[in-house]
Amino acid sequence: MTDRFQNQWEYLAKKDAYWAVLTDDNYTSNRWDQEAFFNTGEQQIESVFARLETLSATPDYGAALDFGCGVGRLTRALSKRFKHVVGSDMSASMLTEAKRVNGDFKNITFAQNSPGKLDTVSEDALDFIYSIIVLQHMPKQRQAVFIRAFCRALKPGGILQFQALSHRHINTARDLLAVITPEPIKSTWRIITGKAHTDMEMHTFRQQEIVELLAQEPVDLLAHWPDHAAGPRFSSYTYVVRKRRAPPNAH
Ligand SMILES: C[S@@+](CC[C@H](N)C(=O)[O-])C[C@H]1O[C@@H](n2cnc3c(N)ncnc32)[C@H](O)[C@@H]1O
Repeated sequence: MTDRFQNQWEYLAKKDAYWAVLTDDNYTSNRWDQEAFFNTGEQQIESVFARLETLSATPDYGAALDFGCGVGRLTRALSKRFKHVVGSDMSASMLTEAKRVNGDFKNITFAQNSPGKLDTVSEDALDFIYSIIVLQHMPKQRQAVFIRAFCRALKPGGILQFQALSHRHINTARDLLAVITPEPIKSTWRIITGKAHTDMEMHTFRQQEIVELLAQEPVDLLAHWPDHAAGPRFSSYTYVVRKRRAPPNAH
């Protein structure tokens, strides 16, 4: 059985998977050039590792996870650094396209996870987990489930980098309405307007609450900073976390 979010991403992936991943107004209606699209992934990953180096947080280059991989824009770039990369997504259509266009990258495995569960990787298995513009599309409670699961999936010493929206800026009456309307009313409105299976939903999770969640996990938050991942309407943050190693004398 699929859930609402899975239905939405199936719809979006079938309509235009590349635009659904990078919603640039210049590239609507299947107009993304594949080379330009995948180049954005190379540039993104290049800057991620430059920043990790400045934080003395470069991971071992063994196993990595690209969570919410879409068509593999970042998975492909990660595969050039890591021995093996899993690209995990809940959308079968995204994964079909990811496999089609990344067949030459033999160290990538694409796998479908359940919408509310990280069931594609084992615990203590990964040197690096990366996830951007993914958690923002699921409710806060689900984001929390995945962030905790990421912490479990890391090897001791492994690095997690993810992005999430902290809050919506209120500049217009529409923004105010989006903030004050309770989620059940928004859901009903989507059904009434026929958008329940087509919307690209945006969800926030306050930066301070994420910091508090991470403090309950066996990880150290190395850094977090505001980013521009979701444009001017939202305050967005990137988090870099390292899983603690057991003390040398621990059994
Ligand atoms: C905007 S795209 C980003 C893709 C990729 N991270 C990138 O930057 O190229 C969001 C992706 O997250 C996936 N996604 C959303 N919720 C998910 C969930 N619960 N589990 C796995 N993937 C999810 C969607 O199917 C979609 O492919």
